[in-house]
Amino acid sequence: MSARTDTATKPESQTRKLYVKTYGCQMNVYDSERMAETLADQGYESVDSPDHADLVLLNTCHIREKAAEKVYSDLGRLRKLEKERGKSMQVGVAGCVAQAEGEEIVRRMPQVDLVVGPQAYHRLPDMLSALEDGKGTQVITDFPVEDKFSDLPATRKSSGPTAFLTVQEGCDKFCAFCVVPYTRGAEYSRPAKHILAEASRLVESGAREITLLGQNVNAYHGEGTGGDWTLARLVREMAEIDGLARIRYTTSHPNDMSDDLIAAHGEIDRLMPFLHLPVQSGSDRILKAMNRKHDADSYRRLIDRIREARPDIALSGDFIVGYPGETDEDYEDTLRLIKDIQYAQAFSFKYSPRPGTPATGAEQISEDIKAERLAGVQEALGKSQAAFQNACIGQTMPVLLDRHGKFAGQMMGRSPYLQNVHLPADTERRGEIVMVKITEAHKNSLGGECITAP
Ligand code: 5AD
Ligand code: SF4
Repeated sequence: MSARTDTATKPESQTRKLYVKTYGCQMNVYDSERMAETLADQGYESVDSPDHADLVLLNTCHIREKAAEKVYSDLGRLRKLEKERGKSMQVGVAGCVAQAEGEEIVRRMPQVDLVVGPQAYHRLPDMLSALEDGKGTQVITDFPVEDKFSDLPATRKSSGPTAFLTVQEGCDKFCAFCVVPYTRGAEYSRPAKHILAEASRLVESGAREITLLGQNVNAYHGEGTGGDWTLARLVREMAEIDGLARIRYTTSHPNDMSDDLIAAHGEIDRLMPFLHLPVQSGSDRILKAMNRKHDADSYRRLIDRIREARPDIALSGDFIVGYPGETDEDYEDTLRLIKDIQYAQAFSFKYSPRPGTPATGAEQISEDIKAERLAGVQEALGKSQAAFQNACIGQTMPVLLDRHGKFAGQMMGRSPYLQNVHLPADTERRGEIVMVKITEAHKNSLGGECITAP
């Protein structure tokens, strides 16, 4: 943070230190990496703490009130740090809070030097030059999503065996509780050839598993050879990339789970047997109020069809409790759905009113009831997750070793079902896919023994 025209903020050395803090979803993780790459070209070296940083970027999330408010407390903390260390830093707010609140952030926190919305990251170098030229606080929250992808550097490298790749951004669904259509804008799909080129670069630099990202990823309809491609077509083509062992995608909407995508789960070995398919509620009345455009039984039938195509598929979901108007009966319907589906894992949240969304003005359910229902939903989800974890004991499954474990001689990896697996293994084996016999099941991880020869 600096006085806007304070030239003393210019770093003395050539290499400047950049710290990016990421909040929220995987798309923000991807965007943070892309921002760091863009700024690496400008001489910024990424560091993993703000302590000595010259530039701090907060890549923020606006999905729930708590996430958005955290940004302001972190900004306060940075101001304190700056005073303590006696050296100024530049601070930027990026991501969905930047998009939603724009100039308001600078009014509330005048020390902020730049505010950049998610579609404008390619303009960061210009914004930083303008700051250095003393042009004052920079705020850009435009929406030209195509420019962002084509103007970000095409030098993408993977930092490990697993990587994210954004293929689609924005959402046209307008669920009544959700800010995404406003912060990320209308649905946009990247051209397939750009995605395939980026995927190949990631694989060349060590990625063995790629997760395709989009707020509504299964609505993907990017330009490809012979017309627009569906997500299923994109996955089929990606599965031809030599060296790419695993493909995942997230997040999906039930209404975009097309026949060809369901079939792909049964036909493409490299497409991992895991699907995050949020339903939000098990009550038809609430689903209608949420503008979800599906009901609980159509979701059940959809899951049946997906399981027919890929019987061992692990399912994940998102749930909101305490939506305006939710009765005890509606809540019971949600518990019933959770029991019926048997999720391998899932996220659940108390409804949080978001500015500008249709549901925000409605009468709120009390905090106590929200808390009670959240606990009930989490208990039901916990049971079904535990059943899924326990059923893995005795199974042998391929695990992608992607990081060191907590202890010496231990590696962590990912099962096909997106579980963390720890096992004794040489750290040199990072990036290998090994067969592991599962011997232990914990709440959020599995333990096992490698049965693949070293
Ligand atoms: N309140 C609570 N949870 C929300 N989500 C989205 N908007 C809200 C909100 N206003 C949840 C949904 C979505 C996930 C990413 O966040 O469950 O699927
Ligand atoms: Fe938000 Fe997902 Fe609904 Fe789009 S489909 S409005 S991103 S919850």
